[in-house]
Amino acid sequence: MRVTVGVSGGIAAYKAAELVRALQRQSVEVHVVMTESAQKFVQPLTFAALTGHKVITSLWGEWDAGEGAADQNGIDHIAEAQWCDALVVAPATANILAKFAHGIADDFLSTMYLATAAPVVVAPAMNVNMWNHAATQANLEILRQRGVGIVEPGTGDLACGMTGAGRMAEPETIAEVVMRMLGRRSDLRGEVVLVTAGGTREALDPVRFIGNRSSGKMGYALAEAARSRGAKVILISGPSALHAPPHCELVKIVTAEEMRSAVLERMNESTLVIKSAAVADYRPVAVSAQKLKRTGPITLELAPTEDILAEVVRRRRPGQLIVGFAAETENRMENGRAKLLAKGADAIVINDIAQEGVGIDADTNAATFLTRATSVELPEMPKRQLADRILDEILTLRRPRSVISEFDEHEDAKAAQDRVLSESIPVGAGRRQIIVE
Ligand code: CTP
Repeated sequence: MRVTVGVSGGIAAYKAAELVRALQRQSVEVHVVMTESAQKFVQPLTFAALTGHKVITSLWGEWDAGEGAADQNGIDHIAEAQWCDALVVAPATANILAKFAHGIADDFLSTMYLATAAPVVVAPAMNVNMWNHAATQANLEILRQRGVGIVEPGTGDLACGMTGAGRMAEPETIAEVVMRMLGRRSDLRGEVVLVTAGGTREALDPVRFIGNRSSGKMGYALAEAARSRGAKVILISGPSALHAPPHCELVKIVTAEEMRSAVLERMNESTLVIKSAAVADYRPVAVSAQKLKRTGPITLELAPTEDILAEVVRRRRPGQLIVGFAAETENRMENGRAKLLAKGADAIVINDIAQEGVGIDADTNAATFLTRATSVELPEMPKRQLADRILDEILTLRRPRSVISEFDEHEDAKAAQDRVLSESIPVGAGRRQIIVE
């Protein structure tokens, strides 16, 4: 495993040495890149001695990364970007966060950030006012949306004499996040994930349709997250303004019936089906060949569409996991649980779409991941981050099942399962788990 540690200029730069050691204890090979201002705080020699590699200090300077990529390619941020399995920046100053967020590439570290496909983790450290500033928070939000791991700073006495948030997280904590990210990176290797996304449109006439407000953001985030964790991804999407995530196969459809055909055609290739699309429940019985004229009140006759999720469950292959979504405006747990049972999926991700700014068309989402035996609350977070959390939960379904009970150990498993399903599970209760053998 290879990690590039980027050090930017802050008093916490000396703590990066501890981070290097913490990563090395996990058998990680480490290269260090320092920004110009970082070198005012710590000598590159410190990191060279720790890593056994010359430290990268400039885009243009003389350096040699030892046995790493630079040997083959000279001074090359591209080679370093390809060499590493993860890039971690600690401490990350407000300046480097701004550069990453806006794609400014004027030194080795910021250039390498743009060039790397590896996961990126940043551990910010700065004065509390700089941390709280809207500009810094907006930049962090951009990075979060992009899937960058952010190890939040702690609160306490700062070097500037002020007290508050801004102290870099402990090196051990940062190393743990990096290791988790590296583990995650390949935990879907071998899986073929079919994701449905966006809303469908049901034509009324050549120009009008019945549709819904789904933007596709949640489904596209799931596709991107699954791909970045090593899965092959087939993304079947209704009309959406979003760009297909890199390296995902995009199948574009418009109507519920087209989505059904596409899903049934491709589902046998997949090991995991995630149905996050907002599929129309009804379509007009007759589609007018000509544009409908305004002649007074009209009544539309609508026919129900096929329930694709239920059909996928009926046709599932052994070992194939099937996860649905439930968009609810009321009684979300009861309705979600009813959908889980009626459709027969392995899990349902329940969204409360009545909440302002959350769910449909929004950038953030909050959800409950519900299986027959477990209920996990996933609080409001950016959809890209939620996508990873949902995939984490889905992966727990792949693990061998054993009885883990936070309830009474002696309770009959079947009875406990029925009770969990019939009980109203309180929001915010966190994980309550009974896994039945
Ligand atoms: N779904 C589907 N085919 C449909 C309708 C829904 O596959 N014709 C899937 C969705 O992709 C989602 C799940 O079923 O994974 C639940 O969708 P939702 O719209 O919440 O529920 P409905 O089944 O449509 O029920 P209702 O509209 O009555 O709440």
